[in-house]
Amino acid sequence: MTPKHPSESLTVLTDLVLPSETNHINNLFGGELLARMDRAASIAGQRHSRCITVTASVNHVAFAKPISLGSVVTIEAKVSRAFRSSMEVYIDVWVEDRISGIKTKANEAIYTFVAVDENGKPVEVAPIIPETELEKKRYDAALRRKQLSLVLAGKMKPEEATELKALFV
Ligand SMILES: CC(C)(COP(=O)(O)OP(=O)(O)OC[C@H]1O[C@@H](n2cnc3c(N)ncnc32)[C@H](O)[C@@H]1OP(=O)(O)O)[C@@H](O)C(=O)NCCC(=O)NCCS
Repeated sequence: MTPKHPSESLTVLTDLVLPSETNHINNLFGGELLARMDRAASIAGQRHSRCITVTASVNHVAFAKPISLGSVVTIEAKVSRAFRSSMEVYIDVWVEDRISGIKTKANEAIYTFVAVDENGKPVEVAPIIPETELEKKRYDAALRRKQLSLVLAGKMKPEEATELKALFV
């Protein structure tokens, strides 16, 4: 399979925060942001694999800054690493200042998607070649995140998570 670059899967979703999507203190409800990130990441996975993709795991979410009612939110999702059938998708969330137009990073998340056929059976995806320094950094760390996710899901024995263990020795 011909390798692809992360930029080929880049998916950008821009939307407003409306009253029905906020919590009691008028900030974006966390579950709403998770759903928006899931949509963007799913499209990124589809763009990389050209297959149906399903969410296998939400590996990491950091709700670092609240996002207030009326904000313009931009979600950028890109495949950071492809394995056999699974893909790690890295998501950056930006909030745009209405007056200056300056975008500030509000949150980030990492999801795992699996490419599947019409019967939901995992299928192989193209390898990925990172280009920028940030893409290379995210690519390099993706294997230990995959191992951590599999260990937490009970799908890998901790002693088999060699890449992850190497962090602590
Ligand atoms: C995700 C799913 C397709 C995996 O199927 P499976 O039978 O476990 O298949 P496999 O064991 O071959 O795993 C497929 C890939 O997913 C990866 N994977 C499975 N669970 C994972 C997890 N928790 N974290 C990271 N990767 C995971 C495997 O490592 C494997 O990756 P690889 O092929 O790149 O090496 C299956 O569990 C599923 O359909 N889950 C429901 C998905 C869904 O409906 N999502 C929406 C939630 S509402």
